[in-house]
Amino acid sequence: MARITAGVFTSHIPAVGAAIDLGKTAEPYWAPMFKGYEFSKQWIARAKPDVIFLVYNDHASAFSLDLIPTFAIGCADRFQPADEGWGPRKVPEVIGHPELAAHIAQSVILDEFDLTIVNRMDVDHGLTVPLSLMFGQPEAWPCRVIPFAVNVVQYPPPTGHRCFQLGRAIRKAIELFDEDLNVQVWGTGGMSHQLQGPRAGLINKAFDTAFFDRMLSDPEGLARMPHIDYVREAGSEGIELVMWLVGLGALKAAPRQVHRFYHVPGSNTAVGHLILENKK
Ligand code: DHB
Ligand code: FE
Repeated sequence: MARITAGVFTSHIPAVGAAIDLGKTAEPYWAPMFKGYEFSKQWIARAKPDVIFLVYNDHASAFSLDLIPTFAIGCADRFQPADEGWGPRKVPEVIGHPELAAHIAQSVILDEFDLTIVNRMDVDHGLTVPLSLMFGQPEAWPCRVIPFAVNVVQYPPPTGHRCFQLGRAIRKAIELFDEDLNVQVWGTGGMSHQLQGPRAGLINKAFDTAFFDRMLSDPEGLARMPHIDYVREAGSEGIELVMWLVGLGALKAAPRQVHRFYHVPGSNTAVGHLILENKK
């Protein structure tokens, strides 16, 4: 059977993708940030996932403001990097896992989570930057990826609790898939940041630290945190953190922390990164 072995959580800043693509990772501004991912690259080379279920948000690249699914599962064979205004990133295409994606869609929808099934979409920095941070610059990504897009762009996004419960349904679905696959679930976006309005540039280290801590000590209570607390404390784009709760809900109780990293600033964002392993 397929099994979820670990969760990876990370910010997904577009300027980080540009720094990688333009060879700027050793520059003084960026070097301390990329240092926080050195362990992660070695860890994932050993962990060798077969499939990543990658929770991210589309930033009006694949979907326009004409059509905004709350939860969208990518069931295609392959996904191309999106053109976000400067041409598509020159990173490998993303190879999907249509059989597992269709199985998860069926299981989760019959468990009463109404997903949107997507058979064609491009994937933006929300998905490709985390892949670059974890795998560097390979010729091809070393595993399959199921893109799972969550609306956090236009109000109302789903609640943290809904995301956490959905994670549990995704875990059940993956564990019922009849193939021996090592699956990781990733949650991306965050941590505190605000890109617009009078509070642009907001960072809240105390909130971010408590968020990390509660992922381990109080996941259910954390999942109950209302939207207003994210927006007030972590900024308007801090709401991206609800996507981490999908990944957290997909893990078993009491996962083991293997890596935690926090760095301010990366572009306009507090860069946060956490790796949790399921106990065997
Ligand atoms: C930035 C961060 C994001 O999460 C994003 O989607 C776009 C920009 C930033 O820090 O610049
Ligand atoms: Fe974002």
